[in-house]
Order: sequence, then structure tokens, then C-alpha cells
Amino acid sequence: MSQQFDVVVIGGGPGGYVAAIRAAQLGFSTACVDAFVGKRGKPALGGTCLNVGCIPSKALLQSSENFHAAQHDFARHGITVEGVKIDVPAMIERKDGIVDKLTGGIGFLLKKNKVASLHGVASLKSRENERWVVEVAVDGKVVDTVHATHVILATGSRPRPLPGVAVDNVTVLDNEGALNLTAVPARLGVIGAGVIGLEMGSVWKRLGAEVTILEAMPTFLAAADQQIAKEALRTFTRDQGLDIQLGVKIGEIKNLGDKVTVAYELNGEQKLAEFDKLIVSIGRVPNTDGLGAGNVGLQVDERGFVVVDEHCHTNLPNMWAIGDVVRGPMLAHKASEEGVAVAERIAGQKPHVDFGAIPWVIYTSPEIAWVGKTEEQLKAEGIEYKKGTSGFAANGRALGLDHAQGTVKLLACAKTDRVLGVHMIGPMVSELVTEGVLALEFKAASEDLARIVHAHPSLSEVVHEAALAADKRALHG
Ligand code: FAD
Ligand code: NAI
Repeated sequence: MSQQFDVVVIGGGPGGYVAAIRAAQLGFSTACVDAFVGKRGKPALGGTCLNVGCIPSKALLQSSENFHAAQHDFARHGITVEGVKIDVPAMIERKDGIVDKLTGGIGFLLKKNKVASLHGVASLKSRENERWVVEVAVDGKVVDTVHATHVILATGSRPRPLPGVAVDNVTVLDNEGALNLTAVPARLGVIGAGVIGLEMGSVWKRLGAEVTILEAMPTFLAAADQQIAKEALRTFTRDQGLDIQLGVKIGEIKNLGDKVTVAYELNGEQKLAEFDKLIVSIGRVPNTDGLGAGNVGLQVDERGFVVVDEHCHTNLPNMWAIGDVVRGPMLAHKASEEGVAVAERIAGQKPHVDFGAIPWVIYTSPEIAWVGKTEEQLKAEGIEYKKGTSGFAANGRALGLDHAQGTVKLLACAKTDRVLGVHMIGPMVSELVTEGVLALEFKAASEDLARIVHAHPSLSEVVHEAALAADKRALHG
């Protein structure tokens, strides 16, 4: 079938489906082509994020936190529970139910906005009469040919493979396998102490696995503010029992079916570890294979990312790219904001995505979140700054929640008082970080945050105190 559209979006993840909805809202006839096949063997919209990323991982994090709390925390509240057990298949089924609900919801949203939803693998074929020609194939057979004035590439990313080890999602797992284990492994190995390694390692640790995380870098969470990273490392290792080894050089990995061995070097010593399951989470690579970049002369860099300018425009006319397939952090909210901005730019508007104010969250317990510059970055850039820190230990709401652990650190320009970075570890800081995002976006001073009335008792009072502390007038510190 041959179809004509103003805009065709390739990829139905948080970048692609959001771009398609916004384009349709702006009056363009729009199609969204997505190839993802979900766990139930059917097309499933929402990309990595909804199917095998953000959403299912957070569902399992919550289940594992509940299990842990029932075993270790309820007694402090005077609640006695006996015989607490974990039914892993039931936990996975709940997670799958959330995924089904949300992926189905995207189909509904596309329909509501009159976006044509096409299933299949899209590839760029040619340019005819100033319009792009895109073929859509299922099982290698072309089922649709789409002609469009604009193409938005939102093909996302996939796990970066570790040379010499094949992921079978039975013994050696990527994110998909890590989210679908049917029982708690006694010994779980993780390669890479990044976001996935920490989140998935925490889930299975709380459910009872012995977890060892092997990280190549000598520095823990190098992208985070190092004061917060150090506190996190202490909490995860000393309090929670995660075995995190830094500065490791991975050697031979042998998948023996029912177990896996990992040879590695640590501080010049050769070691051999044996695990029942191994998660490989060493970053992700962009999906540009098979996209037909060569057919149309699309510029792709040596790592496979589509090359774009600050407006997500590629080297080709009316061809755009967003999300994980282009430079910048691989985050769902970054992908969505780029999608909105591209649709609006196609409509002649002048949108702007502020890359300096994109929040990061790591959903461990306690959570880690930040926005803006770290103290290390400010030092390296020679920017004079002042800082204020405050802890959750004496916060009434955190104590009530039984999560009175963590710190908020606020960094502001020494001369202008403008907020430059906000860094946190603590309960629900995924929500609190938005106050920092607002401060950065509105170019607020730390004094502005210090003078805003924060509800009492609330976790946000710790942000307030950190802002007061930046001016050396903390009330409770
Ligand atoms: P994707 O979500 O990867 O979507 C791309 C879609 O395009 C896929 O459906 C793919 O099948 C399809 N596609 C690819 N090639 C073609 C083609 N040729 N034709 C048709 N379709 C194609 N980010 C956060 O912000 N918060 C989190 O908590 C978070 N948790 C995560 C947890 C895990 C375990 C993982 C793996 C990732 C997590 N991320 C998180 C990252 C987040 O999932 C990605 O940044 C986000 O999904 C990127 O969106 P995207 O639209 O660019 O690509
Ligand atoms: P990551 O980039 O966060 O971490 C990968 C880690 O593996 C790094 O610390 C790196 O030094 C290490 N590593 C690389 N090669 C190695 C090797 N050979 N041996 C040992 N360690 C090695 O990547 P991850 O965890 O795979 O996640 C991919 C991306 O998905 C993240 O960068 C993030 O963008 C996104 N994500 C976001 C989440 C969130 O926002 N909460 C949750 C999960 C993923």
C-alpha cells in the first residue's frame, strides 16, 4: 500500500509517539511506524521505555521495596507479619499488566489524535519530488510505502554488547532478561555499575540474591556529584550489602548453562567469580542498522548516532532525529521534549530544549537525582560557587516515612547567587528534583528558593534548608 503524509515518525518510543502526537495536534497528517513486538508476541507501542525500560523497572523496584519493608521495616511500626514470601511470577505479571496498560494507552492516544499507526520495520529508500520515500516491512516483506514531506527518526537504542559474551536472556541477561527472571537467583553478577546495574541489582538484592557488581571505572557514578555518589556508594555497600567492585578489568566469561563464570582483574590480582545469572549493562548503542541511511546519504557518526544540529535537524532537508538515536543523555523525558520541539519547528515555531536543565534520576532506594552542574564541573570550569547542604535525618516527614536518610546539596554562583546545580540522595528525590529544574529554568537565585514557603512537614523542606544553608542561615542545620 502506498500512503502520503506530511510527517512520518520512525519509532514509537517516548521520542517518536510524542513527536507524532504533537505533529498531529499542529495539523499535520502524521504516521508513526514502530517495529516493537511485546512480550505477548504482539506489536506494542512505547518503545524501550514502556516495554523493557523505565516503566517495568520501576514496577519491580516498588515490588522489591515492599517485600523488603515487610521483612525489615514493618516491625518498627508495630506491625507483625509472618511468613513473608515473594511470588516472583506474580510480581512479573503485575509488572506486565502495567506495561500492557500503558502500551495499549499509546495506541489509544495515537488514534485519538488521528495519527496513523503502522507496524513494521521502516527504512529510508529515496527522495522523490521533494518527498521522502520510506518502506515498511514485516518479516522482510514490504507491506507499506510511505511518502512524506518530513521524516522524524526516533529509532532509539539497544544494549551495548560485551565482546565475547552472547546474551541468551536465560543465564546471561540484558535489561529485557533482567526484568523477566522467574525466580530469585542465589548469586547474581552485574557488569556495569551504571543506572541499569544499580536499579536491577537493587531489585534482586532486596528479593534475596547475593549481588556483585563489577565496574570498569575507578570512580563510582562518575557523572554524578561526587559528594552524593560517595554517600550512595556507602549506603549501597555498607547498609544494603551490594558488593560493588570498581576499577575491574573483565576477562573471559563462560556461560555454562546453569551458571556463568567471570574472570576479572582487580588491583592487579586475577579473580574468578561464579554466578547463577549475569546481567550485562554497560551502556546502550543507537539503532541505525538497517535504517537505510546509506540509501539517502544520512550522516551517521562512527558510533552509529545520527548526526544532528541543536534543533535535531540532520544533514538532509526535512529529516530530523531525536531521542536515544542522537547525542545527549539517553533519557525518556529528553527524547519526548526533543519530539515536541521538532514537531513545533516543522510548524514554524521557535521551540527550545534546555540541555542544561535535564534532570537525572536513579531509582535506587534512596533515590539519586540531580540537575545542572556538579561541584566537580564548576571547579573544572573555574566558576566560583557557594554551596548549601541539608540532610533528611531530622526531617519530620522523612522520619514518618521511615526513610530519613540522604542529603540535598545546592550549588549557586558566588557572585550572582544564581542556582547552578541541585544534587540529591534521599526519599522520593525523583519528585523533589523538579524544584531544582524550575530554579534553573527560571534562573532563580538560591535566595528565591530560600524565600519560597515550603509545606510542613514535607520532604521539600530539605531543599528549602539547603537553599538557606547556601546563605549560611540554615534554621535546622
Ligand atoms: P526507544 O524507546 O528505544 O524507542 C524506539 C522505538 O523505535 C522502539 O520501539 C524500536 O522497536 C523502534 N524502531 C527501531 N528501529 C526501527 C525501524 N527501523 N522501524 C520501525 N521502528 C523502529 N529513561 C528515563 O528517562 N527514566 C528511566 O527511569 C529509565 N529507565 C530505564 C530502564 C531501563 C532498563 C532501560 C533499558 C532504559 C531506561 N531509560 C530510562 C531510558 C529510556 O528507556 C530511553 O531513553 C528512551 O526509551 C528513549 O526513547 P526513544 O523514543 O528515543 O527510543
Ligand atoms: P550506563 O552508561 O548508565 O552505565 C554503564 C556502566 O558500565 C558504566 O559505569 C561504565 O563505566 C560501565 N562499563 C562499560 N564497559 C564496561 C566493561 N567492559 N566492564 C565493566 N564495566 C563497564 O549504562 P546502562 O546502565 O547500561 O544504562 C543505559 C542507559 O539507559 C543509561 O545511560 C541511561 O541513559 C538509561 N537508563 C536510565 C535510567 C533512569 O533514568 N533511571 C534507568 C536505566 C537506564
